[in-house]
Amino acid sequence: MPLTPVLSAFWDEPQSWTLETYERHDGYAGLRAALAMDSDAVISLVKASGLRGRGGAGFPTGMKWGFIPQGDGKPHYLVVNADESEPGTCKDVPLMMATPHALVEGVIIAAYAIRSNHAFIYVRGEVVHVLRRLQQAVREAYEQGYLGTDILGSGFDLEVTVHAGAGAYICGEETALLDSLEGYRGQPRLRPPFPAVAGLYASPTVVNNVESIASVPAIARNGAAWFRSFGTVKSPGFTLYSVSGHVQRPGQYEAPLGITLRELLELAGGMRAGHRLKFWTPGGSSTPLLTEEHLDVPLDYEGVTAVGSMLGTKALQMFDETTCVVRAVLRWTEFYAHESCGKCTPCREGTFWLVQILQRLEAGDGTEEDLATLLDTCDNIFGRAFCALGDGATSPIVSSLKYFRDEYVAHFSGRGCPLDPVASTVFAAATGSAAATGTAAATGTAAPPLAAAAAS
Ligand SMILES: Cc1cc2nc3c(=O)[nH]c(=O)nc-3n(C[C@H](O)[C@H](O)[C@H](O)COP(=O)(O)O)c2cc1C
Ligand code: SF4
Repeated sequence: MPLTPVLSAFWDEPQSWTLETYERHDGYAGLRAALAMDSDAVISLVKASGLRGRGGAGFPTGMKWGFIPQGDGKPHYLVVNADESEPGTCKDVPLMMATPHALVEGVIIAAYAIRSNHAFIYVRGEVVHVLRRLQQAVREAYEQGYLGTDILGSGFDLEVTVHAGAGAYICGEETALLDSLEGYRGQPRLRPPFPAVAGLYASPTVVNNVESIASVPAIARNGAAWFRSFGTVKSPGFTLYSVSGHVQRPGQYEAPLGITLRELLELAGGMRAGHRLKFWTPGGSSTPLLTEEHLDVPLDYEGVTAVGSMLGTKALQMFDETTCVVRAVLRWTEFYAHESCGKCTPCREGTFWLVQILQRLEAGDGTEEDLATLLDTCDNIFGRAFCALGDGATSPIVSSLKYFRDEYVAHFSGRGCPLDPVASTVFAAATGSAAATGTAAATGTAAPPLAAAAAS
């Protein structure tokens, strides 16, 4: 399957981010087309395109816009979620760096569709370079008459505010984001009411991901049927797959939904020389791990769900056989424990205890009972936490135990990581076994204290 660069079509051009470059590539032609329709027709167009939210859940974008009540006399808001912080996810930041005007144009079209006169772009605070680039693009758009009052003589007014968050993963959760934007501590809100009814400042609000909104201008320019000519029936269109980890050429690969990892890996030059794929995340670390047996799964919403995971943010993190799955899962779990906002007990307490158990297991001091306790703790978080951060924290643990239970067991039967060259060499020397890697797991022998052996 070939690449289909639309969003990324001219990322490699010098000064790709300027208004001049953007306009040379049909920039703001989608806006002109949209302003020639009425607002409801724009919503119908996006519904017909089948565009699904690129922030993780894949909710149909046009349908979300259609939930905004009309004629209610309240202000409506559009909020762009540019908080990108899911481990492995790195598509929105390059998109905003390379072509910020694609987002700005999408914002104007979306705001026009939902009859909003004020839009916010909530950017992760750490990415100051992105913030500056967006602010510059918004400035250019105002100067050119694409923002402000009576945009292109249409009678439509729009103000855009670029807002920097303070850098918290939970502020990517849409209701925590809204609290943060209002100046409160970012913690998820109880739903209902949903943001479409009572969002920012208790007014009807659409929250959309950067890539979702940036996909709209091309749809407005080329039509719904064109968009549907890419991808699958239920997951139409093209999208940015972020390929990272142990591959030859990590980066952004824009391809139709439904492409397989095997095809993407070919485009990325394969795994690094001499190594093979061990495990991978299809959509960031909140999505259950998959293995080599899933290389031919279509990477669309339905395909990945069918094998027990989720497409999520399409962040494909590749790990080869040199990676200790227990260590990787521990690192992710430490992230979730750190980022837990503390509002609900299952996640606040549960992620803390998951880290304690995983640290013990990784150090080689775990027990069989620890594995049962891990699963039991995950069971008490999943579906019981207040927001999806808690559920996501359990994904790497439960899935790694499903596929790599032996590796967990090897850590405590071998008293250390079977892949750690130092530990396995010391272990091999102490037990007289020849091979290093994997030996501890294979022998099942009670290991000597590694520290003592290393010191002698
Ligand atoms: C803990 C957590 C973090 C999230 N982080 C992001 C994020 O950084 N960016 C994003 O677009 N969506 C994020 N989401 C999903 C948003 O809540 C929301 O579904 C999304 O912004 C909707 O946009 P879409 O319909 O265009 O996908 C996160 C969700 C959770 C539970
Ligand atoms: S699941 Fe975690 S992040 Fe979400 S509300 Fe509960 S404590 Fe906060």
